[in-house]
Amino acid sequence: MSKQGDFEAVRKDIAALLKQPGYDDGSAGPVFVRLAWHSAGTYDAETDTGGSNGAGMRYEAEGGDPANAGLQHARAFLESVKEKHPWITYADLWTLAGVVAIKEMGGPTIPWKGGRTDYVDDSKLPPRGRLPDAAQGADHIRWIFSRMGFNDQEIVALSGAHNLGRCHSDRSGFEGAWVNSPTRFSNQYFRLLLSLQWRKKILKNGIVQFMNYDEDTETELMMLPTDISLTTDPSFKKYVELYAKDKDRFFEDFSKVFDKLMELGIVRDASGAVTNADNVKGGYHS
Ligand code: HEM
Repeated sequence: MSKQGDFEAVRKDIAALLKQPGYDDGSAGPVFVRLAWHSAGTYDAETDTGGSNGAGMRYEAEGGDPANAGLQHARAFLESVKEKHPWITYADLWTLAGVVAIKEMGGPTIPWKGGRTDYVDDSKLPPRGRLPDAAQGADHIRWIFSRMGFNDQEIVALSGAHNLGRCHSDRSGFEGAWVNSPTRFSNQYFRLLLSLQWRKKILKNGIVQFMNYDEDTETELMMLPTDISLTTDPSFKKYVELYAKDKDRFFEDFSKVFDKLMELGIVRDASGAVTNADNVKGGYHS
């Protein structure tokens, strides 16, 4: 067991856990990033509810939300880290796992601070329906992310996380990966959005997504309707073009916006300690 507050020790154990030969593309990294994002993406600025504090996915109302299907795998992988470092809260563990995974997969360093706490019951969980619906378009994602306090540039930067991982027909119903190296963080997603021909395809389950088949390499890549909307909406498209051209700028902006996402709803004092945690237990400073 590590010393309370020794996040370096936790980081090392998360990094060591990423390689998972029997799972997906051999890495738990992408699903850790999605866990971190879904833990935070319930935030509603107007009512100041939701967000990564609380780790509400431990409860059926949030964890069993179809929008979170598949994230039980990420949570199960991380149990061994929690057992080894029982002082860390789940809310900190899940957000830190996303940040460590991005870095380990070749992405930017993202600032991260601990101190989140875990809800002791399910009375403060955000309602379902706050996460984006991939079957929709630009208006929908602008509405969902502006509720959290993000502008168009930030929405596009965040969407660049689809460089990682894949869609699973038994989770979201969509199928396939966005890029050929889904465990390597890069700006490839933006380049492919602009450079490939994306054709609408109706899957056997009736779900509509966009596909590109490359005859030379015999590989098929996919985009969600919401991904495609980043190229059809002029305000989104200019940032897709920017990030496709300028990888450093994408990494810089992604780091800032992912940090902002992880901090939604969390209030800290000058020392960095979280001051707005109630109805909660744990927290490394308590
Ligand atoms: C996967 C939708 C934004 C990170 C997925 C999947 C869907 C989806 C449908 C497939 C899930 C599955 O079947 O396993 C969306 C929509 C978004 C959005 C509609 C709004 C624009 C984001 C953001 C991030 C993110 C903001 C992180 C910053 C990921 C990652 C995966 C993923 C890493 C791969 C997970 C895996 O491989 O298991 N997303 N997403 N997404 N999403 Fe998003």
